Amino acid sequence: MEKKKQIIGIIGYGNMGSAIAQRIKQAFEVFIFDKDTGKVKSAAGLTIAKNIKELIQNAGIIILAVKPQDFDTVLTDIKHDAADTLIISIAAGIPTQYMEKKLGNVRVIRVMPNLPAKIGKGVTFICKGKFATEDDLHFAKELFNHVGRTLALRENMMDAATAVAGSGPGFLYDRLSDKKAAEWERYAFDVFMPECEASALDRGFSPQQAELIAKWVTEGSLDLLKISKESPKVLCIQVTSKGGTTEAGLEVLRKGNGSLKDATKAAQKKAKELTRR
Ligand SMILES: NC(=O)c1ccc[n+]([C@@H]2O[C@H](COP(=O)([O-])OP(=O)(O)OC[C@H]3O[C@@H](n4cnc5c(N)ncnc54)[C@H](OP(=O)(O)O)[C@@H]3O)[C@@H](O)[C@H]2O)c1
Repeated sequence: MEKKKQIIGIIGYGNMGSAIAQRIKQAFEVFIFDKDTGKVKSAAGLTIAKNIKELIQNAGIIILAVKPQDFDTVLTDIKHDAADTLIISIAAGIPTQYMEKKLGNVRVIRVMPNLPAKIGKGVTFICKGKFATEDDLHFAKELFNHVGRTLALRENMMDAATAVAGSGPGFLYDRLSDKKAAEWERYAFDVFMPECEASALDRGFSPQQAELIAKWVTEGSLDLLKISKESPKVLCIQVTSKGGTTEAGLEVLRKGNGSLKDATKAAQKKAKELTRR
């Protein structure tokens, strides 16, 4: 008899929610819900839930993929049914402790993916909350291996991860937007990647981590650019939330003489400012 697939629910089917859903649907049964019904209409191979209640009643694992400003509404909506559910959040600036405070003693995992997840070439940083188990952490790693590489981190490094790897693709796309396609690869590997590695070191990653992160961010972002056939400008927009970490970094880069190191520093500062307490 065929083994029943585990059910994953995803709330928010935007840039990241859809990228994750499309990559994990081979291995899991995926329920999705987005308040914008137009976005889910054409989602193939996924089950569209009528509402959050239906989604959470079916799925034992829920991925929260809405913008930080919509997060509290969703926490309120899932609160009564969250007790036996593993909650995985991909939102920037929402600590596990905040979710535990709002939801009670639930098992929470916080992850920070990046846009190349769309083609299975993302980098996802993962940390666990107080009530999540090592098995939960292991499961989250397996789940996000479907969208690229994963790295477990202490939560105090999540803002740095957001700045370097979450926003990183946006910084590369911004730098490439005034260059010809023939120049993209050389620029990405010869200029951006070493700067990205130096920025990761500067943000507190170890030399080994910094080298890997810079390589993964550069390769993944460049491959997405080639495969998606979108312009760097369009992909930059997909990474940039209004008032978010990428926007803060781009402001520094676009000043003219702003370095990538300064941009990631500004992005991390913004992540800290945005952190819910
Ligand atoms: N984009 C990136 O590169 C990136 C990288 C790492 C992490 N993240 C994190 O990923 C999260 C999602 O980002 P995104 O870029 O995917 O955002 P997005 O494209 O705006 O997608 C979020 C989706 O959630 C929907 N939504 C809002 N409130 C909802 C609710 N109460 N119930 C159901 N759906 C709801 C939104 O609908 P409306 O549009 O109608 O509001 C939208 O379709 C953010 O928290 C961000 O910090 C993003």
